[in-house]
Amino acid sequence: MKNPKIIVALDYSHARDALAIAALLDPALCRVKVGKELFTASGPAVVEALRKKGFEVFLDLKFHDIPHTVSMACRAAAQLGVWMVNVHASGGRAMMQAAREAMTVEKRPPLLVAVTVLTSLAATDLKEVGMEGDPQAAVLRLALLAQSAGLDGVVCSAQEATVLGQACGPSFCLVTPGIRLAEGGSDDQKRIMTPQAALQAGAHYLVIGRPITQAKDPRAMLQHIDRQMHEST
Ligand code: C5P
Repeated sequence: MKNPKIIVALDYSHARDALAIAALLDPALCRVKVGKELFTASGPAVVEALRKKGFEVFLDLKFHDIPHTVSMACRAAAQLGVWMVNVHASGGRAMMQAAREAMTVEKRPPLLVAVTVLTSLAATDLKEVGMEGDPQAAVLRLALLAQSAGLDGVVCSAQEATVLGQACGPSFCLVTPGIRLAEGGSDDQKRIMTPQAALQAGAHYLVIGRPITQAKDPRAMLQHIDRQMHEST
């Protein structure tokens, strides 16, 4: 069975736009990510429609609440048939363990990954919310906590992948956004890496949004990135 490494971020507010782009993509070459905007606007119906088109779905809702609430949300996500779901590691061990346990009762539980430190937060922002110290150390600490709570992996920047791969081992799944092609622009992403470099750094899955969704020909761009990735492995 194919295990495509590219996850295309469908960052739209209307299901029709997300489904129009999905119609140009090949589920053999990519999975898709449904985030807060699209899910809040369109709900489970858009997940179902994407699954009907053959796509595996990463439901990127970054749950963060008391353990019971998060565990029930994760179970609901599992019942939607998504492939991957995520929570904030800063919700703590009990929250993550409850999420893990709630999903194991499902026949095909989704991969459960954690967000460590949002990449939009700099050291000064973290200090303001009471997290003193080096953000990289916090990323590592939260990734190890997620692993010991039984999670399958973390979302991290590709720059963090090597360190996290060494600390957590090769089977701990690293999902990396901030991917840009050597020949393209960076949009609002600050710390970017090419698909090949991210894979070499140890990323398992690459979240790629605008470089594909805003390409003149999204289908050709997906094929191009897929070819480049295979050349580098
Ligand atoms: O269009 P682009 O490739 O920048 O999209 C990246 C996707 O990954 C977006 O959905 C964004 O919200 C998400 N993401 C990110 N950085 C993180 C976590 C998630 O860019 N640290």
